[in-house]
Amino acid sequence: MRYLLLLLFFFFFFLLTLLSNTIGSTAYEASTLISIKESLVDPLNELKNWDSAAAGKCNWTGVQCNADGVVERLDLSSRNLTGVLSFEAFQALPGLVHLNLCCNSFAGSLPGSIPAIFHLRVLDISDNAFDGHFPVGIGTFPRLETLNASGNNFAGPLPADIGNASTLENIDLRGGYLVGSIPGAYRNLQKLKFLGLSGNNLTGELPPELGQLAALETLIIGYNSFEGHIPAEFGNLTNLRYLDLAVGSLTGPIPAELGKLPFLSTVYLYRNKLEGKIPKEIGSMSSLVSLDLSDNMISGEIPPEFAQLINLQLLNLMCNKLVGLLPWSLGELPQLKVLELWNNFFTGPLPPTLGRNSSLQWLDVSSNSLTGEIPPRLCDGGKLTKLILFNNKFSGQIPAGISACQSLIRVRMENNRLNGTVPGELGQLPSLQRLELADNNLSGSIPEEFSSSTSLSFIDFSRNRLQLSLPNDILSIPTLQTFLAAGNELTGEIPSDVDNGCSALSTLDLSGNHLTGTIPSSLSSCPRLVNLNLRDNELTGEIPPAIATMPTLAILDLSNNSLSGSIPRASGPPRLGDAKHLL
Ligand SMILES: *[C@@H]1O[C@H](CO)[C@@H](O)[C@H](O)[C@H]1NC(C)=O
Ligand SMILES: *[C@@H]1O[C@H](CO)[C@@H](O)[C@H](O)[C@H]1NC(C)=O
Ligand SMILES: *[C@@H]1O[C@H](CO)[C@@H](O)[C@H](O)[C@H]1NC(C)=O
Ligand SMILES: *[C@@H]1O[C@H](CO)[C@@H](O)[C@H](O)[C@H]1NC(C)=O
Ligand SMILES: *[C@@H]1O[C@H](CO)[C@@H](O)[C@H](O)[C@H]1NC(C)=O
Ligand SMILES: *[C@@H]1O[C@H](CO)[C@@H](O)[C@H](O)[C@H]1NC(C)=O
Ligand SMILES: *[C@@H]1O[C@H](CO)[C@@H](O)[C@H](O)[C@H]1NC(C)=O
Ligand SMILES: *[C@@H]1O[C@H](CO)[C@@H](O)[C@H](O)[C@H]1NC(C)=O
Ligand SMILES: *[C@@H]1O[C@H](CO)[C@@H](O)[C@H](O)[C@H]1NC(C)=O
Ligand SMILES: *[C@@H]1O[C@H](CO)[C@@H](O)[C@H](O)[C@H]1NC(C)=O
Repeated sequence: MRYLLLLLFFFFFFLLTLLSNTIGSTAYEASTLISIKESLVDPLNELKNWDSAAAGKCNWTGVQCNADGVVERLDLSSRNLTGVLSFEAFQALPGLVHLNLCCNSFAGSLPGSIPAIFHLRVLDISDNAFDGHFPVGIGTFPRLETLNASGNNFAGPLPADIGNASTLENIDLRGGYLVGSIPGAYRNLQKLKFLGLSGNNLTGELPPELGQLAALETLIIGYNSFEGHIPAEFGNLTNLRYLDLAVGSLTGPIPAELGKLPFLSTVYLYRNKLEGKIPKEIGSMSSLVSLDLSDNMISGEIPPEFAQLINLQLLNLMCNKLVGLLPWSLGELPQLKVLELWNNFFTGPLPPTLGRNSSLQWLDVSSNSLTGEIPPRLCDGGKLTKLILFNNKFSGQIPAGISACQSLIRVRMENNRLNGTVPGELGQLPSLQRLELADNNLSGSIPEEFSSSTSLSFIDFSRNRLQLSLPNDILSIPTLQTFLAAGNELTGEIPSDVDNGCSALSTLDLSGNHLTGTIPSSLSSCPRLVNLNLRDNELTGEIPPAIATMPTLAILDLSNNSLSGSIPRASGPPRLGDAKHLL
């Protein structure tokens, strides 16, 4: 009997403790939250409703409870908080699953070691100003799925013990000052989908063990100083979608094994020291959307297999050592928007159908040895804004399909072998700001239509075979800053009709033509004119004093004309070219 009573007593005692524990834990959590608040500096008083007097901690700003009234999520992001973080206090919230402290002003270093928060799945301390070494302890969090500490100033090595947090799916440590190499222990992270380490000071070779991260979808580790080869083992990352190794010191070839990856859509390897040819296997990755291999030392030709890149939108191969003809199949890629091939050794023509089957937006093939005519259908998609063809050997005329391309903003075709006339329609394109046609073999006159442009700011017709006189209103384009037409066969007088415009004009170079008549003194009403070059013409009469004394003018060259009279005294420092040709 006594024994039974004792048993009953213990039973009730047990019940009571259980009950008081639950009640106690809710009250205890509220006081834990209050103590967390007290260690924070909250300049905007965001946590004003965290008040021990008020019941219902679950209604406090940023606090979210589960059905049992236990704190489950704490979202203190973007509230201008500073102060001290106590991981022991967070640990004392036994149901805490999600802790978001991102986007505040927390600074200073974290403790060397942080205690495990048992149920925590998401820890986000991104976009603060934490510095010092990244703490150890993450490896002991048994349920952690996301660690986001990006956008801080963490220094020192990557903690190897993270490799023990085998539940991790996302690690984001981008943007800091972390040094050393990637611990091979990270191979244990078999659930990892996202690894972001870019923008730190990491060095050493990329561990081949990373190829064992079977679940990895996104690997962003560029903007560090990694060296050595890209491990062929990366070809085992069968779930990889996004690979960013840009900006580093990687050497050797692009592994052909990458071509095996069925979902890979983005490959950024730019600005390294990669060599060798583009593996033909890359050309058969129909999943590819963006391929940027620019600024390396890649040689050889573009593989004909690129015809299979039916989803490719961006192809950037600029600044390499590529040679050979461009595969005509590039012109058939239905999604291609950006094609940057400048600074290579490509020869032969552009694919004649380029732009016909896709909405091409940017085309830059400058500084190669390309020949043939400009493909007429580059702008069929109606989206072309940037057309950069300079320093090649393109010939023939500027196609009608280009001069009617309403979307164009920049056209640079200088230093080619273009002939025929300058299409007047170019002057009427509504968005065209920059037109560079220098060093070609263009003939005819400068079309009247240019005078009515409301967008052009930079026009360069220098060193062609342009004739006749300049349109009288050409300098009145309200947006015009630079007009260069040196080294042509222009005749007639310098346009004097600048009264309605020339408010933006800063450089006017008409040197080396056959211009006659006097220098119009109306040029002195161009308030921003800095550089006026009229040398090597057949100008006569006196130099208008209003021009020689313009305060803005820094460079004035009137040499080798038939000007008469004396040089007006200039107030500023104009250089009058070779003075003996002035008179
Ligand atoms: C939280 O606030 C709601 C109304 O906003 C109220 O109905 C509810 O009782 C409050 N919960 C607690 C636990 O105080
Ligand atoms: C809060 O922080 C944001 C972003 O850091 C900042 O722009 C803003 O000025 C801050 N507000 C106050 C009142 O400190
Ligand atoms: C980490 O946080 C930053 C900024 O708060 C955010 O931009 C980024 O997407 C987050 N990373 C992951 C993997 O969610
Ligand atoms: C990972 O966990 C194992 C087993 O608990 C331990 O021996 C090892 O030291 C841990 N690794 C690191 C880098 O902390
Ligand atoms: C980290 O890299 C930056 C930029 O590359 C450099 O200026 C800085 O000196 C480096 N810091 C360390 C600690 O290596
Ligand atoms: C990973 O790739 C390498 C080289 O491509 C290969 O030799 C190795 O067998 C692969 N490992 C696994 C586990 O698939
Ligand atoms: C490209 O467009 C033409 C007609 O404009 C069409 O005949 C051809 O099949 C298209 N090619 C591809 C690969 O879409
Ligand atoms: C332009 O040059 C081509 C040769 O490249 C020539 O056949 C054509 O007649 C020239 N056109 C004009 C208008 O000079
Ligand atoms: C420019 O065109 C003229 C006439 O068509 C031709 O005689 C001359 O050789 C061409 N110049 C160049 C550099 O192609
Ligand atoms: C002067 O200009 C003419 C063209 O107008 C040019 O042929 C001649 O070479 C120039 N003379 C000097 C000395 O530069």
